[in-house]
Amino acid sequence: MDDSDPLSGIRLDGLALRAPCAADAGRIADLANDYEIAKMTTNLPFPYRRQDAEAFFARMEAADRAREAVFVIEDAAAGPVGMIGFHVSGTLGPEIGYWIGRPFWGRGLATRAAGAALAWASQTWRRKVVVSGHFADNPASGRVLEKAGFLYTGEIQRRRSVARGAVAPTRMMVWLA
Ligand SMILES: CC(C)(COP(=O)(O)OP(=O)(O)OC[C@H]1O[C@@H](n2cnc3c(N)ncnc32)[C@H](O)[C@@H]1OP(=O)(O)O)[C@@H](O)C(=O)NCCC(=O)NCCS
Repeated sequence: MDDSDPLSGIRLDGLALRAPCAADAGRIADLANDYEIAKMTTNLPFPYRRQDAEAFFARMEAADRAREAVFVIEDAAAGPVGMIGFHVSGTLGPEIGYWIGRPFWGRGLATRAAGAALAWASQTWRRKVVVSGHFADNPASGRVLEKAGFLYTGEIQRRRSVARGAVAPTRMMVWLA
């Protein structure tokens, strides 16, 4: 298997980032079916059903791995706790996105997952620049990104949230390997 393939997975103490499989769909849908999560993302619909997870996994399975990489975040004790991934949109570099299920917030999981995903992106995927953006009313995600080494660019984009059905000011950030 190609090393840059997300299916190879990333393992660190007590936490793994690995490719989603069909058996994850129910658990991932249960966790993602939460407006407090969906409203902070651009793409997650609300409600989020098992079929949404299955369709997403199928799309990712067929995706160009040079442009998309997606991982289930799996805690050794708790099992799948969220997802993290990259997609190439603009020209600067891939964009990172993630969510953690609400029962697992505040344990440092997003910060650890982001650190591991960025290490994979730079060392294995050979990306030197990663961008991200968080809605202005989501300071927790800004904090995760700051802790992972992102800096604010000063740019505020207006991005649409599917779950909100509205656009929201989005603070853009950048990370350099
Ligand atoms: C944002 C999210 C990923 C954080 O996950 P998490 O595992 O709880 O994050 P961590 O524990 O690694 O770190 C959270 C940090 O945010 C801080 N934080 C939490 N709520 C905050 C708030 N309202 N204002 C400012 N900082 C806040 C925490 O104190 C912590 O920082 P610290 O370590 O300096 O104390 C999670 O809440 C989530 O999935 N939210 C919904 C989806 C989402 O926002 N995705 C990102 C879209 S850009």
